Parts: sequence; structure tokens; C-alpha cells
Amino acid sequence: MAIRIGDTAPDFTAETTTGTINFYDYLGDSWGVLFSHPKDFTPVCTTELGETARLKPEFDKRNVKIIGLSVDLSESHHEWAKDIEETQGTALNFPIIADHDKKVSDLYDMIHPNASDTMTVRSVFVVGADKKVKLMLTYPASTGRNFDEVLRVIDSLQLTAKHSVATPVNWKNGEDCIIVPAVTDEQAKEKFPDGWKTLKPYLRIVKQPS
Ligand code: BEZ
Repeated sequence: MAIRIGDTAPDFTAETTTGTINFYDYLGDSWGVLFSHPKDFTPVCTTELGETARLKPEFDKRNVKIIGLSVDLSESHHEWAKDIEETQGTALNFPIIADHDKKVSDLYDMIHPNASDTMTVRSVFVVGADKKVKLMLTYPASTGRNFDEVLRVIDSLQLTAKHSVATPVNWKNGEDCIIVPAVTDEQAKEKFPDGWKTLKPYLRIVKQPS
């Protein structure tokens, strides 16, 4: 069955480049990013994995654990890791699931047969500390993802989980936010004592809460 935002992320135990991992144990109390790669030794994936490894300190800052997936064996992942380090200048610093039996790919509906029945599409699942799915992205194999965007969404998700705000178009961390419609002006006075700007009754702009 398809996974939807708000669903509990399915748990699994799988072989990875750092040994056998249980997903929930790996996440602990952290947030998580689970993302798939169509296949080992493919060019776009090679660039994505190098970039994600380079960005790992940014994920760490946000208390997010990363785990990749590719539908090949662990030995193949280890060989590929050498190429990633050589060509991208960053060594892999998070586990890659060896999903040769497609167990996790099937669990997360990462194989879209009309695109390919052997390779995964490029899926991203952001999972909250409560193990609920917060975000899903699906890209075709030929388009590399933008991991700055993944970080940007995590910033928004972590902010909106704490405060009664939403984030507007192209928002970046530190920029103005929107007071959610469920909050009345009376309630907003308490939550945002420094005030806000009302453009329309439903469009109230407020400084990013800290
Ligand atoms: C790639 O990762 O480069 C790739 C994989 C499958 C199809 C096209 C590109």
C-alpha cells in the first residue's frame, strides 16, 4: 500500500554498508532521511551520494540521520564507494542499504514499474522523531535531487512542528513566516507578542520564531 504523509514509516531490518541495521534503532530519537538510488555505478547517483556525504554535518546539526538505498549487494556498494570518494572528493559517511532482494524498495514503493521494474526511482522520505512520514519526494532516475532543498524542507518541518507558523514560497531559514489560519488574532497576540503584519485576514506575516 502507498505510504502517505502522516503515516508511520514502516520499520525494517536490512543489510547495509555498515552492517545489519534496524531502521528504528538506527534513527533512535532523531529525524531520518531515507533515499533511494536506482543502481550502483550510475553517474547521477554517484554525484548525489558525494554531495550528501559533504552535507552530512548539516544533517547532523538538525539531528537527522541519513540512510541511502540501492538495489545491489553490499560488496558492490563498497566497490562503488571508492569511485564516489575518488570522483566526488568525499567519502561515504552514512550507511547504504544493500536492497538486492528489493524488500525495502517494495515496502516504500520505490519501484515504479512503468519507469523500470528493476531499478528504483529517486525517492526521499523524511521521517520525524515520532517515526511519522513528514515529506516524500519522487524524482525520475535521470534527474539528480537537490539536497539543499531537502535541508530547507527539514528546517521548515522542524520549525512548524514547534511553532504555530507555516513557511511561504521559497522560504529559507531565518526569513519571515506565516501565522497558521487555525490561530486567531487573540491567540496570536500571546504567541507573537512582537506583533505581525496583516496583508489579508488569512495572510499574516511574522518574524521567524526562535
Ligand atoms: C544515474 O544514476 O545516472 C542513472 C540511473 C538510471 C538511469 C539514468 C541515470
